[in-house]
Amino acid sequence: MAVQKVDMSVDLGFFRLTNPVLTASGTFGYGIEMMPFVELKKLGGVVTKGLYFEPREGNPPPRLVEVTAGLLNAIGLPGIGVKAFIRDILPRLREEKATVIVNVCGETVEEYVKVVRCLDEAEGIAFYELNISCPNVEEEGRCPALNPQATYSVVSRVKKAAQRPIVTKLSPNVTDIALIARAAEEAGSDALSLVNTFLGLAVNVETRRPKLANVYGGLSGPAIKPLALRLVYQTVQAVNIPVIGLGGIVTGYDALEFLSVGARAVQIGTANFFDPQATLRIIQEMEEFCREHNISRIEDFIGSFRI
Ligand SMILES: Cc1cc2nc3c(=O)[nH]c(=O)nc-3n(C[C@H](O)[C@H](O)[C@H](O)COP(=O)(O)O)c2cc1C
Repeated sequence: MAVQKVDMSVDLGFFRLTNPVLTASGTFGYGIEMMPFVELKKLGGVVTKGLYFEPREGNPPPRLVEVTAGLLNAIGLPGIGVKAFIRDILPRLREEKATVIVNVCGETVEEYVKVVRCLDEAEGIAFYELNISCPNVEEEGRCPALNPQATYSVVSRVKKAAQRPIVTKLSPNVTDIALIARAAEEAGSDALSLVNTFLGLAVNVETRRPKLANVYGGLSGPAIKPLALRLVYQTVQAVNIPVIGLGGIVTGYDALEFLSVGARAVQIGTANFFDPQATLRIIQEMEEFCREHNISRIEDFIGSFRI
């Protein structure tokens, strides 16, 4: 008999998501901006825009440029700071019954710890996503995600301080993702998410100048999907903790590719900019696929990829 109702919930070990579709940090505001388009409680979770301790302006414009099948951004992590988030945004997300995942940033290891300690005092957060792709002043501006020692250092310090589970978000701009993934796992990370954006450059040939004021930017969108999928697959094979996959997902089929190689959940980023309801559509498309293929639990599909 054909499957009528699909169980879309997925277990991360430390948290059960009602479905595997989360938003990607920085592409869905703090969640409340998207309420006219999406009923937040229908999502597996809302990952907020990155939060530092203090408010920040971000980089000067131009800081976004469209490229073939993608977006190049050098936004520079502007934000309202952790205290304003807790005071003004979090109560509204709680009212909406959203599953809230806060993306945590820091210029120093101490700042990551300060942000997490502050969030620990607030109610209505499911877990944290550690953005280790922030320029670190103690590492001469390099981000911790590029180096296994720096990754270990920040993740272990935050893990000791935090009262909630931690997902470490990895950068794709490395030669051996397994090395970094294992460093985060050994440091106590409860799960991993990847990928953040790929470092890129766009040139205006009329002026012979960079299209972004920051010169370099992070590439996201459909252009990166096969690159991201390869990195997610390699990471799943390298660690024993859950992996959340993202990078260029636009359809339910794209999301299922990530689940098939072992990701337990996915995040949707750039697609929100051209289809604000992409997350809900993707959940529906995944569910339809399961029904058509007689899969009663989405978890049974995870890791089903074979060579
Ligand atoms: C405009 C913009 C802002 C972003 N801001 C953040 C951020 O604050 N923290 C973070 O961890 N990732 C940030 N990202 C990266 C995305 O969360 C995601 O990792 C990346 O865009 C790849 O997914 P996609 O191809 O589905 O967009 C940002 C991406 C974009 C395009």
